[in-house]
Amino acid sequence: MIKKYKHYIDGSWVDPDNGEWFDSENPYTGEVWSQVAKGNSRDVDKAVSSAKKTFENRWGNSRPTDRGKLLFKLAEILDREADRLGKVEVTDNGKLIAEMGNQTRYIGEWYRYFGGLADKIEGTVIPVDKPNMFNFTRYEPYGVVGMITPWNSPLLLVAYKLAPALAAGNTAVIKPSEFTSASTLELAELISEAGFPDGTVNVVTGFGPDVGTPLVDHPDVSKVAFTGSDATGQKIYEKGASKLIPVTLELGGKSPNIVFADANQEAAVMGAISGIFAATGQTCIAGSRLLVQRSIHDEFVSRLLEVAKTAKIGDPMSLDTHVGPVTTPPQFQKVMDYLDIAKNEGAKCILGGGAYTGEGAKGKQFVEPTIFTGVTNNMRIAQEEVFGPVLSIIPFDDEEEAISIGNDINFGLAAGVWTSDIGCAIRMSEKLRAGTVWVNTYRVISYMTPFGGYKRSGLGRENGQQAIMAYLQQKAIWIATEPSVGNPFIMK
Ligand code: NAI
Ligand code: MG
Repeated sequence: MIKKYKHYIDGSWVDPDNGEWFDSENPYTGEVWSQVAKGNSRDVDKAVSSAKKTFENRWGNSRPTDRGKLLFKLAEILDREADRLGKVEVTDNGKLIAEMGNQTRYIGEWYRYFGGLADKIEGTVIPVDKPNMFNFTRYEPYGVVGMITPWNSPLLLVAYKLAPALAAGNTAVIKPSEFTSASTLELAELISEAGFPDGTVNVVTGFGPDVGTPLVDHPDVSKVAFTGSDATGQKIYEKGASKLIPVTLELGGKSPNIVFADANQEAAVMGAISGIFAATGQTCIAGSRLLVQRSIHDEFVSRLLEVAKTAKIGDPMSLDTHVGPVTTPPQFQKVMDYLDIAKNEGAKCILGGGAYTGEGAKGKQFVEPTIFTGVTNNMRIAQEEVFGPVLSIIPFDDEEEAISIGNDINFGLAAGVWTSDIGCAIRMSEKLRAGTVWVNTYRVISYMTPFGGYKRSGLGRENGQQAIMAYLQQKAIWIATEPSVGNPFIMK
């Protein structure tokens, strides 16, 4: 049974304007499991016009406390539906159920947190220097927010945007990745069930140029939030600039995971493994450059290899699987190309290095967990985001060199530091040019903690209290307490 997903516009399922559909594959089996509406700019128009109408007539004027209550309701529904949504994610993107299940069970917290924040945003009364004036500020939503998301963690990454945007009183039009549209459409239906007015959240599915571009270009879209590649992020930023609208970008990374000789080796090995092989390497925060202090390099690498070799490859829907398929055919090809690039650059492959067709593999999108040693930081394998289970190991001598290699990169999303020296931990965390630094841990995130990138890893921060400010603008109001405007032609 192939499921057919229409657009979700104005609280209803809507057929695509052009009557066209496209297939979505299950990356594990390689089989088509659903068909999705292939949107165009007219579908975008419909969705934006519904979002605009709902913003102007209902949502934008709603009481913050009432918005909070609806977000709490949605959080409860998401908790209830978490396991089902986790399976939808895995069917569409092939990531492990162990990871996606944890994610979908956690996502309700975003809506709870920002729901709680909705009625705590306060303006100020300014003791202004002008006589007979009452002067105050208030925060107002932008209106319609366009949201564009990738395929690696669709529901989590849309929660980063939608929870604060809705709490602030904006409405939304979401374009999920063409590879993973299903879960966001399921979410839209649950948003209706929670009681949000029709048109508060609309989903238009399709490809970047057909749907993403007209969404960003649309004159009634007043803010854009995007997660994906730096190349696409840059295009969106340029389009946003031509409209003079704010854009939030969460882009790629090539994060250094730095192991000092005095670190707890056991923990650092696990941190390195989880940094790169979790989610089959398909995370923006992947610790894809492992920097190991030279004095422990060989021993550390052999311990790492022992653990990496035990990775069980196979069905992402099974809780026993450690590494699943790569999500998309182009992504699979991209990873395979980088394996060649690394080998041609002279990196030494000590594990994997090719497609995986052994036991547990179905479909055609499995890559062997791969480790390269002898990598130098100027190689493409060290500088470019692979987005697959491919680790590059680079030796370093001391703290200064670790900082210099760590920061010698266009990205700056995250970094890891493994050491038992608190002074070193603090110095490293201050000097690494990245939006997140983990010490003796890796990958932890929370709805409470700001997340975002330095350099080409992005613009703005998601999560944490300040994140709601990206969806609000300040207004200053002046009220004369006495007649104040004299005859402008008589200057005193
Ligand atoms: P992408 O950045 O092209 O796609 C992300 C989203 O943007 C999708 O919904 C796509 O349809 C949309 N899009 C594409 N072109 C657009 C345009 N011109 N205007 C508006 N929207 C547009 O990423 P893609 O092709 O899926 O993956 C390519 C690479 O991006 C990966 O190999 C990886 O390196 C990186 N990536 C990073 C992610 C992250 O979490 N930072 C997530 C996914 C991919
Ligand atoms: Mg799919």
